[in-house]
Amino acid sequence: MTGNTQALLDETKELLVNTYATQPIVLERGEGCYVYDVEGRKYLDFAAGIAVASLGHAAPVMLKALQEQASQLMVAPPSFVTKAKVDCARLLVDNSCFDQIFFTNSGTEAIEACIKTVRKWAYDNKSKKCSDIISFRKSFHGRSYGAGSLTEKRHSQPYFAPYVPGVHFAEFNDLESVRKLITPNVCAIFIEPVQG
Ligand SMILES: Cc1ncc(COP(=O)(O)O)c(C=O)c1O
Repeated sequence: MTGNTQALLDETKELLVNTYATQPIVLERGEGCYVYDVEGRKYLDFAAGIAVASLGHAAPVMLKALQEQASQLMVAPPSFVTKAKVDCARLLVDNSCFDQIFFTNSGTEAIEACIKTVRKWAYDNKSKKCSDIISFRKSFHGRSYGAGSLTEKRHSQPYFAPYVPGVHFAEFNDLESVRKLITPNVCAIFIEPVQG
């Protein structure tokens, strides 16, 4: 155990920009699907870093791979090839329905890449005006400007405007509301198939 929960919560308030509603516990470590807080309390981790720690915490196979890689090469810019990158892409292509991989750091950057990809495709294949996007009310796609522009929450955050233009919002579970928004200028529909 490394510390006192209240003291760490207080220090967080003092030192970190207050962008998130903070949980009243302080996590210390994890093992498999469980996490432990600094008071030694054990929790079943349903969040898993919002579904990114799919192997759980401290999985031996993952620790071994991380240690091996860190001892060889800490980082390589996107413009450099590494065997690890190729091996990982091969594994993903062989075990998915996709032909190619775009590595990125976060969900919000994946959405940025999608926005750019569909807009470029439409520019090349449809028309230069075909850049509109349909998204859904109550959606969340991330915190960067492109992803934030697809997220309806922007309406409650007017101070960040202007957002990326050309985004229209439909109602989830209401196909008619989508049909009404479809025009020759729509290049993509963004939807979260799993609703939280
Ligand atoms: C549906 C959805 N899309 C995108 C994101 C953004 O991912 P990240 O936080 O990795 O940028 C999240 C994050 O919670 C999400 O839940």
